[in-house]
Amino acid sequence: MSKVIVFDHPLIQHKLSVMREKDTSVKEFRELVSEVATLMCYEATRDLPLEETEIETPVAKAKVKRIAGKKLAIVPILRAGLGMVDGMLTMIPSAKVGHIGLYRDPDTLMPVKYYCKMPKDVAERDIIIVDPMLATGGSASAAITFMKEYGCRHIKLMCIIGAPEGAKKIQEAHPDVDIYIAAMDERLNSHGYIVPGLGDAGDRIFGTK
Ligand code: PRP
Ligand code: URA
Repeated sequence: MSKVIVFDHPLIQHKLSVMREKDTSVKEFRELVSEVATLMCYEATRDLPLEETEIETPVAKAKVKRIAGKKLAIVPILRAGLGMVDGMLTMIPSAKVGHIGLYRDPDTLMPVKYYCKMPKDVAERDIIIVDPMLATGGSASAAITFMKEYGCRHIKLMCIIGAPEGAKKIQEAHPDVDIYIAAMDERLNSHGYIVPGLGDAGDRIFGTK
């Protein structure tokens, strides 16, 4: 069974609370998504392997630790996942970025794929799929399946807000994929929106409402 890791860091919680407010501007919302992604990335990469290497400081030789050349790819689910990419790259600037375009059919709530572009060597990389919202879990589950079809074996899912329904769906369909979130909200409403949530993340990032 995969783990659900909720980041309760005060900075993340404070920023998320401002994001939730309906009067937060598009500019501020976009900045906060990026900042929360940076902070979450810091926590979610805690298990990156280190290797020892010898260097010379101005004073003496020293054995120090560096990240052991682990290859990573960040995969945002378009559109809203795009808002998290820059924040992630602030922490891991050498990561490659693959894109999956999915939208949720408003009637069936099923994900519809419309775009995909991956780095050539994506199967050799550890994958972090990013999307601010995990609602029914349909989009994230489809994205994970898609990455597995590409041959990816080490996949993490990073969302900002999750619903219990979405987390359950991922855990059942993909027990090998850990879920990192900043908050687990109460439930979904009849339109598949997270309650209390923050509304439509894509619209709030791009100002399309
Ligand atoms: C939102 C969100 C997720 C999806 C979550 O995207 O960014 O991708 O809904 O819902 P689910 O867990 O029920 O699949 P949306 O389909 O609104 O597209 P957008 O990012 O282009 O606005
Ligand atoms: N997608 C969003 O953007 N918000 C929700 O609450 C659910 C799905």
